[in-house]
Amino acid sequence: MTERTLSIIKPDGVARGLIGEVVKRFESAGIRIVAMKMVHMTRTQAEGFYAVHRERPFFDSLTTFMSSGPAVVMVLEGDNVIARNRELMGATNFKDAAEGTIRRDFATDIEKNVVHGSDAPETAAFEIAYFFNQFEIVGG
Ligand code: TYD
Repeated sequence: MTERTLSIIKPDGVARGLIGEVVKRFESAGIRIVAMKMVHMTRTQAEGFYAVHRERPFFDSLTTFMSSGPAVVMVLEGDNVIARNRELMGATNFKDAAEGTIRRDFATDIEKNVVHGSDAPETAAFEIAYFFNQFEIVGG
């Protein structure tokens, strides 16, 4: 089933020059990029994006980090792309991530873990609409 998901190359990934590396992994996996832009989120925008985590102990630190510099936001499209992107990313904690995953290869910290990916169709719909309108998504 063709799906869409939101991917973010987080501020650590952009600062460390990993945009090309991450994009290459998506393209090599046959995943289509149907929207892409750079954003530097305000703290309020980061808080809105991660509102589901508002009560978690890491919320303040996470939203400070996510608003600390530019990030790349993308809409990915393909068969089963929500799960496939999560597979390419690896586990949240890079120490638990499988070999060959983005987080295993590049993350330095449970928070600074290079990439975000939606985890379900409902979150994908919310997250895509958070950053993109229909005219910014090709074929959209
Ligand atoms: P979560 O949605 O659980 O993970 P994922 O990004 O794999 O979907 O958490 C969102 C982000 O919050 C995660 O990428 C990094 C950060 N985080 C922490 O800093 N500490 C933690 O203990 C957890 C669970 C997440």
